[in-house]
Amino acid sequence: SRPFRIAPSILSADFARLGDEVRAIAEAGADYIHIDVMDGHFVPNISFGAPIMKAVRGVTDKVFDCHLMISPTDAYLADFAKGGADIITVHAEAGPHLHRSLQAIRALGKKAGVAINPATPVSAIQHVIDDVDLVLIMSVNPGFGGQSFIPASLEKVREANRLIGGRNVDLEIDGGVSASNALALREAGANVLVAGSAIFASNDPSTYAARIAAIRNA
Ligand code: DX5
Ligand code: ZN
Repeated sequence: SRPFRIAPSILSADFARLGDEVRAIAEAGADYIHIDVMDGHFVPNISFGAPIMKAVRGVTDKVFDCHLMISPTDAYLADFAKGGADIITVHAEAGPHLHRSLQAIRALGKKAGVAINPATPVSAIQHVIDDVDLVLIMSVNPGFGGQSFIPASLEKVREANRLIGGRNVDLEIDGGVSASNALALREAGANVLVAGSAIFASNDPSTYAARIAAIRNA
């Protein structure tokens, strides 16, 4: 089965100390560093872009798991590839040419991910499943950290797990993940758990290892 990974979202980090925050979660046991890019157009919030990601790339050699909540996407893919993203995930809803975007990511030498919003059926990605390295199921409406997990997402994880079958594709869940739902999500087939507020709650680095371990050992 696919290796289990925890991907803290730096959206909930203290941006004034971003490099230190990334180093702290890397040392505290993060597997991937989840990077939430928001454009104020595809989602109703603005976070940061490729230059900020690039600025902290040198802090760790952990996988940079870049979640693009932007539309359009294609014009910016090269910036994220050059800025140090290892996985670049685009939303199925972000444009009319999802397959082209996924091909462009792979042509840049990066792993390609596809994300779907809570209202988008798993069937929307059926015809690109052989073109991706990661499937991301959004379990909140994207745009903000700290929202509640939408319960119907659990069944979508099961359905995506069936769609992936024996393929070497990560199944990632993002939004409202905590130690209290981590086991159910794992059992449903998710192998990459994103967590923002559950890890960065206090922005106190001395708590990160325990918070990551609580999700890992749930
Ligand atoms: C939401 C982002 C998530 C978010 C997760 O738009 O894609 O990655 O930061 O935050 P929590 O874990 O607090 O829901
Ligand atoms: Zn995300």
